[in-house]
Amino acid sequence: MSGADGRKSIFITGAASGIGRETALLFAKRGWFVGGYDVNADGLQALEREIGADGGRFETLDVTDPQAFAQAMGGFAEATGGTLDCLFNNAGIAGGGLLDEQPWEDVLRVVGVNFLAVMIGARAATPLLAATPGSLCLTTSSSSAIFGTAGISVYSATKHAVRGLTEALSIELKRFGVRAADLLPGLIDTPLMSDAMRAMAPPDGMWRLVAPREVAETAWRAYHEDKLHWYVPEELRDFHREVVDRPEAVREERTALLAMMAAGE
Ligand SMILES: NC(=O)c1ccc[n+]([C@@H]2O[C@H](COP(=O)([O-])OP(=O)(O)OC[C@H]3O[C@@H](n4cnc5c(N)ncnc54)[C@H](O)[C@@H]3O)[C@@H](O)[C@H]2O)c1
Repeated sequence: MSGADGRKSIFITGAASGIGRETALLFAKRGWFVGGYDVNADGLQALEREIGADGGRFETLDVTDPQAFAQAMGGFAEATGGTLDCLFNNAGIAGGGLLDEQPWEDVLRVVGVNFLAVMIGARAATPLLAATPGSLCLTTSSSSAIFGTAGISVYSATKHAVRGLTEALSIELKRFGVRAADLLPGLIDTPLMSDAMRAMAPPDGMWRLVAPREVAETAWRAYHEDKLHWYVPEELRDFHREVVDRPEAVREERTALLAMMAAGE
């Protein structure tokens, strides 16, 4: 097979690793044509080997480059005959630090990959999504979009922006019959997470370490059900309620946590 040949299709950014990679594998296994895009060429090659060349299209792409994104989308459209069932705007970088200490170049990089590129992707994909009945514009936000996370303030702000954008798109894109939804993952065991964060994760509860496969299963559900926000794990919804009900209490708890981390406890 040279193209999608009638299969449903998904365009995944950040497909070479972690959540994007697991989602690519899961959708491919369930018969979808997968577009895997990333700056990591080696990771993409490994993914292509696993899925097989007939299972999709695998190309390097820097998602912050609007022209390159449009070109990648054009190539994908050729393979699918002009349709796209799911855009998964997922690529992201960590980039941490206190805002007043973080180098400005890092701030711009995080905003560029985590937020500007999500808008670039959504704009590039809209005509294809609009041409495909039942399609979904899916984004990866974060649990750090529930309450601003100190120590990764810029990252956290970009994820709030992604959540807000997704909510707005879920209304704007209705005129084309396109849905929008976001994933709000907690602590997911991928290369994005620092060893220090991994070591701090409790064995259970909403801040436990979750396998990326669980997020991929949630992406699958997001396409097949009609819901705006997907918490992974689901208990994070309780945290969201708490933030709405008593933000000052959450602020105080988080202040104590940051002080503990700074003291290396
Ligand atoms: N791991 C977590 O705990 C966690 C929690 C919440 C949200 N997220 C979000 O999930 C998404 C996926 O992250 P992950 O945990 O799988 O991390 P990951 O590092 O395993 O994967 C991210 C991928 O994005 C790619 N990427 C980075 N910059 C890019 C660019 N400019 N163009 C194209 N690709 C680029 C990387 O090469 C990498 O393959 C990110 O948006 C991240 O912010 C992760």
